[in-house]
Amino acid sequence: MQAFFTWLRAEHPIARVEAEGYRPFWVVTRHADIREIERQPAIFNAGPRNTLLPIAAEEANMALFGVEAGFETLVVLDGERHYELRQMTQDYFLPKNVRRLEGMVDNLAAAFVDRLMATGGRCDIAADIVFWYPLRVAMTVLGIDEANEARMLKLTHELFGASDPAVRRPGMSLVEHSIAVKRDYIAFFDEITQDRRANPRDDVSTIIARGLPNEHDLSPEERLGYYVIVATAGHDTTAASIAAGIQALIDQPDFIAALREDPALVKSFANEAIRFCAPVKHFFRNVTAEYTLGDVTFRPGDHIMLHYGAATRDEAVFPDAQTFRIDRTPNNHLAFGYGPHQCLGQFLAKMEIEAFFRALVRRVDRIEADGAPAYTQATFVTGLRGLPVRCSFASVA
Ligand code: HEM
Repeated sequence: MQAFFTWLRAEHPIARVEAEGYRPFWVVTRHADIREIERQPAIFNAGPRNTLLPIAAEEANMALFGVEAGFETLVVLDGERHYELRQMTQDYFLPKNVRRLEGMVDNLAAAFVDRLMATGGRCDIAADIVFWYPLRVAMTVLGIDEANEARMLKLTHELFGASDPAVRRPGMSLVEHSIAVKRDYIAFFDEITQDRRANPRDDVSTIIARGLPNEHDLSPEERLGYYVIVATAGHDTTAASIAAGIQALIDQPDFIAALREDPALVKSFANEAIRFCAPVKHFFRNVTAEYTLGDVTFRPGDHIMLHYGAATRDEAVFPDAQTFRIDRTPNNHLAFGYGPHQCLGQFLAKMEIEAFFRALVRRVDRIEADGAPAYTQATFVTGLRGLPVRCSFASVA
């Protein structure tokens, strides 16, 4: 796939895509072009078309829920309304406040590495260990207890993996599946809203349940979308990045000793794992005014796919872009997007990934592949979903 993106960046950096069953769009693969677009949110709106969905799913979403994307999350809102809603939780996710969560995150990272040790080192490290750790962090941020975790993880996989036959609910079409998943989310978060209004806590669910004063308050769709983005945006993405980091430790075994000897490297390693994996492959932008970029003129009504997965490997920005470099600096990748929608959880995500690898290299000497890795088949959020490994542990913890 990356060879194809390299060719696209060189030959057709802004390419027209017309595929059966989908509305046409442009795909942008160069780092500089994506930044230019994201810098101008008034011309390039985030909504209503926000990710790649088949026309049938978009039409069903509109008919059933009145929202083309299926959920009215922060990422589809624009202008003042986006600003107002983002402000609600912006403070919570600032680095100085995220630091309050550091002890909790470090303890969880150590506990999940303990879980790896308890397997004897032979397991599917993605499915058995890695997916559960960022999920626990995201659930702690929302104040959702462990008993509901498996249900949440299944819903996230069903949401992002709807096009993957291995994930789709048995006997359901894509549309039926998407509707069933949304109904389950509604039922779950309605209960949370009732609870937090009655019993406020120091968690993001309470901020969302409380909402905004008077006519600024969130509509039911906006409230649901807010819960869903915090519940989903954070864990599959972070887990996929950690799994990519583990794959790098398998491919380049010397990295483990290097990370152990120089803990400062953990930061650049974690950021490189995010660049290399770029779990959010794309978001769309919707053109509101004529604009020329390179030799293409976009017209109002055009749709643009910003391909972060391609831009994070742009050779014009990243020397030796297809290689995982443990010490890559600078590393201004676009895996977290750019501009007013840039990932709200990026500091938390980095903290989680760094904590995991600090804990891992304290205990593990070597990780080897023990079977073929498996990837989620999807166009939006993807990454390793299965990574069978054999680990050798360090004799001194
Ligand atoms: C490695 C992990 C992660 C990656 C790669 C990632 C990536 C992204 C991307 C690409 C966007 C859209 C940016 C744009 O449109 O320019 C985004 C938005 C967002 N992310 Fe993340 N994310 C990650 C982790 C998290 C975590 C841990 C949380 C919170 C718990 C989170 C919460 C959000 C939210 C709320 C938004 C919407 C922001 C807005 O539209 O204003 N993300 N993320």
